[in-house]
Amino acid sequence: MMILIIGSNGQLGHDFQKLFDNLNMKYIAVDYKELDITNNIKVEEFFNKNKEFNIIINCAAYNDVDKAETDTEKCYLLNSKAPEKLAEICQKSGAIFVTYSTDFVFDGHQKVPYTEEDIPNPLSVYGESKYKGETEVLKSYDKAYVIRTSWVFGIANNNFNKQVINWSKSKNELSIVDDQISVPTYSKDLAELSWELIKTNKFGLYHLTNSGECSKYEQAKYILEKIGWNGSLSVAKTKDFNLPAKRAEYTKLSSEKIEKLLGKKIPDWRDAIDRFLIEMKNEGEL
Ligand SMILES: NC(=O)c1ccc[n+]([C@@H]2O[C@H](COP(=O)([O-])OP(=O)(O)OC[C@H]3O[C@@H](n4cnc5c(N)ncnc54)[C@H](OP(=O)(O)O)[C@@H]3O)[C@@H](O)[C@H]2O)c1
Repeated sequence: MMILIIGSNGQLGHDFQKLFDNLNMKYIAVDYKELDITNNIKVEEFFNKNKEFNIIINCAAYNDVDKAETDTEKCYLLNSKAPEKLAEICQKSGAIFVTYSTDFVFDGHQKVPYTEEDIPNPLSVYGESKYKGETEVLKSYDKAYVIRTSWVFGIANNNFNKQVINWSKSKNELSIVDDQISVPTYSKDLAELSWELIKTNKFGLYHLTNSGECSKYEQAKYILEKIGWNGSLSVAKTKDFNLPAKRAEYTKLSSEKIEKLLGKKIPDWRDAIDRFLIEMKNEGEL
């Protein structure tokens, strides 16, 4: 069996490689330079030359939520058009296609966790581009997995956890919003659980995050306590920052569907952050 990982330098792409290395599995991993998935000619060329894949995992994405408000075309190319094209390529070869979406497809007006049955209503260009991408993939190919996740953190790229750690090194006061609530998700857990899901052949739409829920404030507080920061943390509100993209208040995804399918409980976000901090230490980043 041969697996292709696209977007291999990102958080999730990196953790898929580590997982397959540990499992002694064969894969090919390509980053932006080896395969720019927004360039249809290059994509066709690549797949004409490399036809042997049984599973294609798309970890590439346009994730800059604020920049997307003005860099709209690039965002749609990467988050909508590219997955659609990759699904079309998989359809020709029969390969399983896996791609990722986000809690930002929801408007956050709900007060209980969002399930796969809930109707998206994105508030931002990023959310809309992801929603369009997932809809096209699910419509056009029946051997596809679309996995929505939230607040991803991992060793390979920048993320909120690393930002908090960096801020703590130079600041004695921090102010973090408590009116954005979702679930931090460790890309290592995301890769491992995605792989378990892929092996079931039960294709379709899934929500997959760590368990529990928290605000950005609670996430930062947890990390700052763990690393022994002595500064003062205060509560801020989203409106204080006047960011280009609108944020939803509550977008926790329910992972019940996948937990039932796999017959297991997904680790809590605090447990995931504990393991991430150990990984940071082991990699000399903390
Ligand atoms: N990060 C989050 O908080 C979050 C939240 C919800 C959902 N998700 C979704 O989860 C998935 C994995 O996210 P992640 O956090 O692992 O993302 P990430 O760390 O930002 O990685 C994305 C990768 O895509 C690559 N890329 C950019 N443009 C490309 C192109 N044209 N062709 C090929 N590769 C390209 C990037 O390369 P460069 O670094 O060289 O640009 C980067 O290595 C994505 O679908 C993302 O949208 C993420």
